[in-house]
Amino acid sequence: MASRRKKVYEGKAKILYEGTEPGTLIQYFKDDATAFNAQKKAVVDGKGVLNNRLSEFFMVGLGQIGVPTHFIRRINMREQLIRQVEIIPLEVIVRNFAAGSLSKRLGIEEGEPLPRPIVEYSYKNDELGDPMVSEEYIIAFGWAQQQDLDDIVSLALRVNDFLSGVFYGVGIKLIDFKIEIGRIWDGDFMRLVVADEISPDSCRLWDMKTSRKLDKDVFRRDLGNLTDAYTEVARRLGLMPAQAQNMTKPTLIN
Ligand code: TMP
Repeated sequence: MASRRKKVYEGKAKILYEGTEPGTLIQYFKDDATAFNAQKKAVVDGKGVLNNRLSEFFMVGLGQIGVPTHFIRRINMREQLIRQVEIIPLEVIVRNFAAGSLSKRLGIEEGEPLPRPIVEYSYKNDELGDPMVSEEYIIAFGWAQQQDLDDIVSLALRVNDFLSGVFYGVGIKLIDFKIEIGRIWDGDFMRLVVADEISPDSCRLWDMKTSRKLDKDVFRRDLGNLTDAYTEVARRLGLMPAQAQNMTKPTLIN
């Protein structure tokens, strides 16, 4: 049982437990959904199971094209084994189309294509509402160095190309997404890897034809059933068994 293991950290959507070997952790996906820095909360049946499987799918795919991630293997429906990393306290956001805070800030209509992918950063701090920060801030406050930022942008754009392509193939537009980056130390040698999760909690995904939202905006904006939206993403990616495609309770293919 998860409860007998040593809990290392509990966040809004996930819990980290000590892993089976040194340098590893077990990442447990909860059903909790939050928005607006946890001012809005709910338990969404099955969300954790879907995000565990979806994040595995994306992390494995990234590994296959040579993008390093923290992912080792999925253990069960809600848990995966990951490398222990030192999380850089930034949300690295990549945008292909205007939406969310960018649309609000600049008055650009949601869905408007951007002239090129835009990478931006927020400082991970719920009490402050994850404020947007510049490279100057990041370097001045010592969260990362210039070389790290160059590597982070390059990682973020590779993730963007990969995810955009995968989603395009199943009729979904990748509007924007957020990733987190971790440091792994090998003695004095440090490398950066994609950490945390990649799931519809951290992406904006619109159906290509109808612009139906298939991501956490469904919860943020009360647009319908969140599990249905995430199940649709998993179904299109071939992660749902054929007979369960219309079921509310997600049953996933291994
Ligand atoms: P934003 O438009 O609200 O700045 O969000 C940009 C993208 O980042 C969107 O895909 C949602 C994701 N995101 C998170 O995953 N976590 C967060 O805390 C925030 C603010 C955004």
